Amino acid sequence: MPLAEMKKLLRYQPPDRWLSAAELQRLSELSSADRRLQWLGGRWLAKQVLTSLMGERGPAFSDLHIESRDGLDRPARPRVWLRGRMQPWHLTISHSANGLYVVASCEPHCSLGADVMDAVPLDPALAGFWFSDQERAWCRRIGQTWAESIIWSLKESWYKAAGARVPFAPRCLDIMQLTPIARARVTDFATQENAVWTIRGLDCWIVCRRAPGMLSTLVCLQRGVSRSAVEDRHDSIAAAVCEGWKNEERGRV
Ligand SMILES: CC(C)(COP(=O)(O)OP(=O)(O)OC[C@H]1O[C@@H](n2cnc3c(N)ncnc32)[C@H](O)[C@@H]1OP(=O)(O)O)[C@@H](O)C(=O)NCCC(=O)NCCS
Repeated sequence: MPLAEMKKLLRYQPPDRWLSAAELQRLSELSSADRRLQWLGGRWLAKQVLTSLMGERGPAFSDLHIESRDGLDRPARPRVWLRGRMQPWHLTISHSANGLYVVASCEPHCSLGADVMDAVPLDPALAGFWFSDQERAWCRRIGQTWAESIIWSLKESWYKAAGARVPFAPRCLDIMQLTPIARARVTDFATQENAVWTIRGLDCWIVCRRAPGMLSTLVCLQRGVSRSAVEDRHDSIAAAVCEGWKNEERGRV
């Protein structure tokens, strides 16, 4: 959803009518106007998606509480409480300077991670530093300016879906190994401005979207991929990539 539309909508929705008490407290701690709008917009959209999933008799927005900080006050996967009870739902939130993206599911065996970016070319230094050789090769094969943004965005989405309790380390998340993106045909990524690509793998599927001025990705990790398995995978990939990196960089650092 474009952030400008959300800004208009929120003008008529005073926060004390639809936020939980703890959310109001958190809002009072946010001093930047942009961050407040992104945070509020994410909450509003998430509550709208969740109540629509619950059907006609969905609760009041103020009965839902969304918490995206962990016990040490660090950013964390958002969790949802309904009238004080934590729910087993999966929710993922992302904001960019111009857009908001929220995806939710009540399916217990699927873990979601989403990311939205404004459609501006990715800083080449980012790809140069954080991408693996295979990721760079994929971008060259696709041959589109936004291919690198898709890879970067999938790194963030995968990290969010995995819910790993380790800091975000983009170099350690090799999207060519972790997702089925390599299965897509290059011709699928033709240049239309509005496009959605869904690519399914055994335990992971991804959705990439291009809309005017925006690009988003969603990663869904499915049944059978337990959080600990994901963390093991994250760690072993980290180890392998760091080893490769050390060898590759030896002499240059
Ligand atoms: C996940 C992360 C890379 C996304 O950052 P970003 O691109 O700046 O922001 P986005 O708008 O795409 O996403 C922000 C949203 O992601 C969610 N989020 C934050 N951390 C998350 C995590 N670890 N897992 C899943 N979702 C997370 C939140 O809902 C947040 O929005 P909110 O604060 O309004 O609720 C960044 O928040 C991060 O590095 N988080 C991890 C922090 C950390 O190291 N935690 C401790 C683990 S040891």
